[in-house]
Amino acid sequence: CGIVGYLGTKEKKEILLDGLQELEYRGYDSAGIAVIEGKKLDSFKAIGKLENLREKTKSFHSEGFGISIGHTRWATHGKPTELNAHPHLGRYSYVVHNGIIENYQALKEELISEGFNFLSQTDTETIVHLYEKYYNQSEDPFKAFEQTVNRLEGAYATLLISESAPDTIFFAKNGSPMLLGFDGEEIYFASSDTPIIGKASEVYYLEDGEYGYAKEGTIKLFNANGEKSFTKQPLKADKTLAQKDGYRFFMEKEIYEQSRVMSETMMGRVLDKGIEFEELSNDFFNGINAIKICACGTSYHSALAAAYLFERIAKIRCDVEIASEFRYKEPLLTQDTLFITISQSGETADTLEALKMAKGAGLKSLSICNVDNSSIVRESDAAILTRAGIEKGVASTKAFATQTMVLWMLALYVGQQKNSVPTELLAREINAMLHTPKALIVTDTLHTKLHRLSKRYLHGHGFFFIGRDIFYPLALEGALKLKEISYLHAEGYPAGEMKHGPIALADSELFTIALMPKSMHYEKIKSNVEELSARDATICAISSVPFDLADDFIKTQYDSHPMLEFFEMMVVTQLLALEISVRLGNDVDMPRNLAKSVTVE
Ligand code: G6P
Repeated sequence: CGIVGYLGTKEKKEILLDGLQELEYRGYDSAGIAVIEGKKLDSFKAIGKLENLREKTKSFHSEGFGISIGHTRWATHGKPTELNAHPHLGRYSYVVHNGIIENYQALKEELISEGFNFLSQTDTETIVHLYEKYYNQSEDPFKAFEQTVNRLEGAYATLLISESAPDTIFFAKNGSPMLLGFDGEEIYFASSDTPIIGKASEVYYLEDGEYGYAKEGTIKLFNANGEKSFTKQPLKADKTLAQKDGYRFFMEKEIYEQSRVMSETMMGRVLDKGIEFEELSNDFFNGINAIKICACGTSYHSALAAAYLFERIAKIRCDVEIASEFRYKEPLLTQDTLFITISQSGETADTLEALKMAKGAGLKSLSICNVDNSSIVRESDAAILTRAGIEKGVASTKAFATQTMVLWMLALYVGQQKNSVPTELLAREINAMLHTPKALIVTDTLHTKLHRLSKRYLHGHGFFFIGRDIFYPLALEGALKLKEISYLHAEGYPAGEMKHGPIALADSELFTIALMPKSMHYEKIKSNVEELSARDATICAISSVPFDLADDFIKTQYDSHPMLEFFEMMVVTQLLALEISVRLGNDVDMPRNLAKSVTVE
C-alpha cells in the first residue's frame, strides 16, 4: 500500500493523485483521498487502478489552505471493495494506514461493544473509531490521537485528519515506512520518497515509535520519551533511485523485502490451530483425490517443490507440468483432480490456456497468484493471493518465496481437510512457518560474503546447482536466477543423479553450488558432493554444517526444519546471482530478452 499527505495552499487533489501514481506499483486494488479545506470535508474512493479515482475527482478542486490524505491499497484484510478502500471514515475523521494492526480484533470488539459501527473488514478502521472514542471523552485532539497510538500493536504508518482539528494532520509510524517532506510552509507525507521528489526540498524519515502532528507549517514530533527535535535532510532528486528505496536494484529490494512480505502471506491464514483460507469453501476439496499443477518459469519451480509437500504432508497424489508442455500433450484428465495454476502476474498466456483446457475438461481450478483481478484469477474457481506486493525485478524472488509458502500452507490445509495430518506434525509445521520470516532476513555479513565470493565465479564453464528432495526444485530455481541475470550457463540437477552423466563434466572449472540441508538427507547429499569434489569440481557448499571439502562455504543458521533451510538457502542463491550479475555489469532488473509477464504463447 502507499500513503501520501499534504498540508498547504496548493491544489491538493493534484498533489495526492500524482503522489499516489508514484506509489501505484505498491498496490492498485483501490485508492482514495480525503481533503479538509476550511470547514468543508470531501472524500473520494474508487476500486481498481488510480485512473478510476482520477475520473471520479475530475470536477473536484481545493486550492485554499487545507489538509489532505490519500492512499493506494493492496488488499490484506478484506477484499478490494470501495468500502474497504482507504481513507476510512469515522463520524468526523478520516484515516489512512499501511501495515497491520495485530490487535485489531480485540480493539474492534471493544469498540463495537461501546456502540461504534464498523463499515469495512479492515484493521485500519479501528484507528479512526479509537480516535473518536478518545476525542469524545477529552475533546483534546492531540491527546486523543496519542491515546489511540498507544493502543495500537503491530506495524503501521498512519495519517489521520478530523473535523475536530480541521487544520492538523496527525501522523504515527511504527514498523511501516513514512517520511515528512518540507518546502517552506508546505508539508508533505509519504510512505516512500518518490511522491514528494520535485515537490519537497527537505525530508525527515520518521523512526519507529514516532508520532505527532503538523499544523500551520510546523511539526511537533514525539516518542515514548516525550517531545523530540529532529533534523531535516536535503531530499535527493534522483527518482529512479528513490523508487528503489535506496537499493541499487528492484531485485535487491525485493530480496530484502521477503522477510516482511512473508508475514503478510501468512496473515490470518496461519493460525495456532491450523491453516485457514477464507478463499476456499469448506467443501472445496470434497471429491478431490489428486492435484495437477501447471505453471511456467519460476512459478513452475515452486510447483515442483509443492509436489513433494502435497504427497508427504497431505498424502494426496500431485504431479506438475510445464504449462506449454501440458497444452499440447493431449493429457488424460479426470474430474477428481484439482487443477492448480501458479503465476506471479496472472497473465502468462501458456498458464492461462492450460487452465482453460482443464476447465474445458470439467476440472475444478485454483490459482495461486500475486495479482488480484488478473486473467488467471478471474478464470479460476478460486484464487489464493500471495500478497508479495508488486514485483518489479524481472527475475522473480519474493513472488517465488510467497508462492512456495502458500503451497506449503495449502498442503497442510488439504491434510487437515482429509484428516491425514497428525497433531504433532501440524504443530511442527505451523511453528516452522511462523519462523520463516526470520530465516529470510538478509544480514550484512551474508551479503558482504556473497559480494566477495561472486568474484571467483565469473568465469568457468558453467554451474551446477544440486540438491535433493525439495532442494532439487530450489537448485533449479537457483540456476534459473543465475541464467536470467548473469547470462552464464547454469543447470539445476538432482544431486543423486549427477553420477549418471553430468559428473563427466567435473573439473576445477565446473562450479557446483551444493544445497546441503542438515535436516533433510544430509548424509546422502554429502556423498554426492564428495564424489564431485574427488573429481576436482569447485564446490560452493551452502549448509549449517561445516563441510571440509568445500572450496567456499556459506553457513546458514536455521536448520530445525527443511523449509526454514529451504528459504534461507533460497536467499543465498538469489544474492549470489545478483552479485555475479552486478560484477558482470548486466541490467539486473531488466535482463536482456526477458519480460516480466509473457502474454504470448
Ligand atoms: C516470465 C518471467 C519469469 C516468470 C515466468 C512466469 O518468463 O520472465 O520470471 O517466472 O514468466 O510468470 P508468472 O507471472 O506466470 O509467474
